[in-house]
Amino acid sequence: MLAVQKETIALFEELEYPSFVKYMGSKSKIMGFVLEGVNEIYRGGVVCDLFAGSASLAGAIGQQCAVHSNDIQKYSAILSQAYSNSYSYSGIPGAEQILTKAASIVRKNSKAIGSLTEYSAIGSLEEFNSAEDLQKQLVSRTFRREWHLFLKNYSGTWWSAEQCLWIDALREVAETYRVEPCYPAVMSSLMFAMAYTSQGTGHYAQYRDAKTEGSLSDILIYRKRAVAKYFERKYNEVLLWMPKTRPVYGHLTTTLDYRQCLSSLRGGTVYADPPYCFVHYSRFYHALETLVLYDYPKLQAKNGVVVKGRYREDRHQSPFCIKSQVTEAFCQLFKGVAKSKSNLAMSYSNTGMITIEEIEKLATAIFSGKKIEVLFTDHQHMTLGRLKDRHREVQECLLLVS
Ligand SMILES: C[S@@+](CC[C@H](N)C(=O)[O-])C[C@H]1O[C@@H](n2cnc3c(N)ncnc32)[C@H](O)[C@@H]1O
Repeated sequence: MLAVQKETIALFEELEYPSFVKYMGSKSKIMGFVLEGVNEIYRGGVVCDLFAGSASLAGAIGQQCAVHSNDIQKYSAILSQAYSNSYSYSGIPGAEQILTKAASIVRKNSKAIGSLTEYSAIGSLEEFNSAEDLQKQLVSRTFRREWHLFLKNYSGTWWSAEQCLWIDALREVAETYRVEPCYPAVMSSLMFAMAYTSQGTGHYAQYRDAKTEGSLSDILIYRKRAVAKYFERKYNEVLLWMPKTRPVYGHLTTTLDYRQCLSSLRGGTVYADPPYCFVHYSRFYHALETLVLYDYPKLQAKNGVVVKGRYREDRHQSPFCIKSQVTEAFCQLFKGVAKSKSNLAMSYSNTGMITIEEIEKLATAIFSGKKIEVLFTDHQHMTLGRLKDRHREVQECLLLVS
């Protein structure tokens, strides 16, 4: 399974893994480059992915060594576990079993809201917008039955009321498997279904308004998509991909601030991929966090009115996304790595919050006596918009400290 031998340490190769979410800054497209850097500094043992995000590193190398995936967001831990801890065991539920249970929940719950919008019969912008306005008003309804979070908070936004009914139902079914090894795979397949049925641009910062015939016809494509179908497609793919035996490595997932995570490390290899721009992941992916926590969060409001994005109030603000805090954030990252006596491979881009030169200077001051290298590659960055600059040419860099 492992490729070429470097001295006595085996090198990682990029293995195939299912993709679950469209994630800003995901390294899945440049995993070969990332692994080149990790291989350069790896001296055996656990690899700590300090800012795991969509968990692409656990996907690529989780069958080759123990991975400690950390990220402040809870959904990231679920994605990591789907890659590193999934295996196929006797009694693992099939897609049909899960969907049959979900369909029966949807039938029951849909009674609470009366008739559902028939999107194939929508003839005009006005008709569409008035149907969706009614759905949006569900946010102020009181529901008697549990498991109505998406129906209440997100109907008529990224998803239709019908799609929300399915998200809630699949989430309810997933909960019945919480202590089983299939739980992260079921949840991650649901995150995939949410991403591919959402009318947004790949994240959950803002959903689109239907203002023109053109935007309406594009939004309708997503409104007509069935959550169940996308769930089934991904879950079946995951079942085929899953190892047939229990994981051989002792993987770990944590949801700590990176400083706290580093304080518990005792030597090894750290891969760090901190945010590089001013937008907070907690704003872009709040719906995934809410799916996982399912905690009926208080929604952000202005003058007593819930804001359009339906964000949770308690969102994490990362110091890497705040101009006045980013330099200190890198200092603490480097000091934490140095204190833990680990080697480091760190990704950043030339369009980040601080320059590569500044980062190199900080690293040189903090890692005295260590070898420091910087590797570059060209990369088309996904901006997750529908604008013309959807892909911008940027240089991705890897800072290596060993
Ligand atoms: C560039 S993304 C990582 C992408 C990941 N390598 C991938 O391939 O999907 C940065 C991640 O840092 C996380 N993050 C931001 N601030 C953090 C903090 N203070 N502690 C831990 N994680 C943090 C975000 O939630 C986000 O998932």
